[in-house]
Amino acid sequence: MKPHVQPTSEEVTFLPNEIIVSKTDLKGRITYANSIFSRICGYSRAELMNAPHSIIRHPDMPRCVFKLLWDQLGEEREIFAYVKNMSRNGAFYWVFAHVTPSFDNDGKVVGYHSSRRVADRRVLGEVIEPLYRDLRKIETSQATAKDGLAASFTQLMNIVKSKAASYDELIFSL
Ligand SMILES: Cc1cc2nc3c(=O)[nH]c(=O)nc-3n(C[C@H](O)[C@H](O)[C@H](O)COP(=O)(O)O)c2cc1C
Repeated sequence: MKPHVQPTSEEVTFLPNEIIVSKTDLKGRITYANSIFSRICGYSRAELMNAPHSIIRHPDMPRCVFKLLWDQLGEEREIFAYVKNMSRNGAFYWVFAHVTPSFDNDGKVVGYHSSRRVADRRVLGEVIEPLYRDLRKIETSQATAKDGLAASFTQLMNIVKSKAASYDELIFSL
């Protein structure tokens, strides 16, 4: 069950030498959370276990970023992304996430793994926050959520194309 949490303007920060780690099954249900993750999001490790990763989803996050994440994971590719998350009490925290498939000995994808560091303030302020605001605006301006997602995903891809050879290249140029 996903708790209903109202977002607030309080920010939670963590240290540059801390890494927030989680693992999920193939559907994005949490199978492992480190203690730093638990401390920052405010849910106990037991509460996080088997919860959908969207338990910490922040409503300011554009849906198209998660579409890109799942598309790339579906192609067995890693992805780097700036993500705004929401703690149990509604506070937010920004991360720079690396999400990658986990493989078994036969090379089969058995789940996913994410490690997150503190996000660069300059990149957030100059690029990511305005970009995500625009993408959310596009998503909510369409008649249906499906149309909104299609329109924001197209916009994101157009921005990538205009600035870099790929999404990954764009992210690392920031
Ligand atoms: C390994 C892994 C880590 C994830 N980490 C996050 C995260 O930190 N925050 C988040 O909102 N979604 C994260 N997701 C994506 C969620 O599974 C989900 O797609 C997203 O929260 C959007 O949820 P919604 O479709 O219910 O809106 C992660 C997925 C995987 C596979």
